[in-house]
Amino acid sequence: MKNSVQNLQLPESIPVSLNVNGQQHNLSLQPWVSLLDTLREHLHLTGTKKGCDHGQCGACTVLVDGKRINSCLTMAVMKEGSEIVTIEGIAHGDTLHPLQQAFIEHDAFQCGYCTPGQICSAIGLMNEGKANTLDDVKELMSGNICRCGAYTHINEAIMQVKEQEAEAAILLKNTEASGLHEVSERDETSVPGAPAREAELVTEAEGGASHE
Ligand code: FES
Ligand code: FES
Repeated sequence: MKNSVQNLQLPESIPVSLNVNGQQHNLSLQPWVSLLDTLREHLHLTGTKKGCDHGQCGACTVLVDGKRINSCLTMAVMKEGSEIVTIEGIAHGDTLHPLQQAFIEHDAFQCGYCTPGQICSAIGLMNEGKANTLDDVKELMSGNICRCGAYTHINEAIMQVKEQEAEAAILLKNTEASGLHEVSERDETSVPGAPAREAELVTEAEGGASHE
């Protein structure tokens, strides 16, 4: 038994290609290396934090194809071909992500250790589209622990961005609707005698219009 254990060979490192924050990285990793350790130790992206290393605290949360995951529970080799986004990749140049800005405005951190995970998790939460109320936010953010107890301000920051997004969506909808109205009015008035676009489309669908 002892000999067979001694003869066991650890797998060698294998090539792994990861897309992190829009950049492709070609690495050589042992298959059991977690995504968290890969980010921190191999790519030196130390914004993603290691708390428990057991999937209990959420400090290591990153986005993979838009979904939030605990990077400590994920092997890096499993994420080849995916788009990984860490806290270092969510701002646009010098413009902070709205959640980063809201965290600052609401003073939503003390030591800041949990903050990268909280923000990535909140982005994932919004992508999921399931949180409609403050209670939903509290429930669906419960996987991200804050030892400083900044929960009230964290939740306020998230709610603020949710409300901003909802207002922006309504504005966009109204703008589109009024834009369509204007186009429709222009179609009928700007070219005297021209048929309404709807009538043209009906004619085309019936085979009455030639494109030649
Ligand atoms: S470090 Fe990953 S959940 Fe705690
Ligand atoms: S701000 Fe310190 S752990 Fe959350």
